Amino acid sequence: MRKPVIAIDGYSSTGKSSISKIIAEKLGLFHMDTGALYRGVTYFALTNCLNENSEINLADLFQKLDHINLEFRNFNSELVLFLNGNNVSMEIRSNAVAANVSLIACQKEVRDFLLNIQREIAQQGGVILDGRDIGTVVLPNADYKFFLTASIDERTRRRFLELQSLGIESDEQEVRENLVHRDKIDSERTVAPLRQAEDAILIDNTNLSKMETIALILSHIQDI
Ligand code: DC
Repeated sequence: MRKPVIAIDGYSSTGKSSISKIIAEKLGLFHMDTGALYRGVTYFALTNCLNENSEINLADLFQKLDHINLEFRNFNSELVLFLNGNNVSMEIRSNAVAANVSLIACQKEVRDFLLNIQREIAQQGGVILDGRDIGTVVLPNADYKFFLTASIDERTRRRFLELQSLGIESDEQEVRENLVHRDKIDSERTVAPLRQAEDAILIDNTNLSKMETIALILSHIQDI
């Protein structure tokens, strides 16, 4: 039987990636955290495409997209992102990447470039992709679509704890402002904005634990 294709979209810090990872393990699917791809391109831009004012030169980045090779590799039984052969899983979580990723994710050139990578992986079936536009643009024919949301207070708390666990110093108020700012840019951009697909199941997990959210999602997935 063909394995399903599952799309999980939603706001930052609703637990999309960690939830998708566990569901993928339970169902024997391949998981792709598509936010990591946008972060990978942002990290590339910050290290290769800065102008004299240390700002990202978008025209330079668009010219260099062909030099970017992004792949997920199995590393110590975790799928981690490699950029041009280097493990960048830590670097893509930095504050500098978080502060610039929405600008990069607004660019049509970047989205078209990453669209191909995402669709190629999904073509084989048996995948779960998490992101912002998976159910609406990348995989409109996905077998199952979910859209995750949670209150800004709860999402701030989760991101703050995540950064802490990664050893990244941060200020809670700054984390909150970054989330609000990114939500706004992600939802208001013209290309593939963050939006719930009409046929996606909405899940507000403000008061749900990770395991409760997973159980709820699994309860909607049949025939596996
Ligand atoms: O999920 P995340 O926080 O790692 O995502 C990083 C950024 O990438 C986020 O600001 C929105 C963008 N993104 C996107 O535009 N489309 C996706 N499919 C995934 C992420």
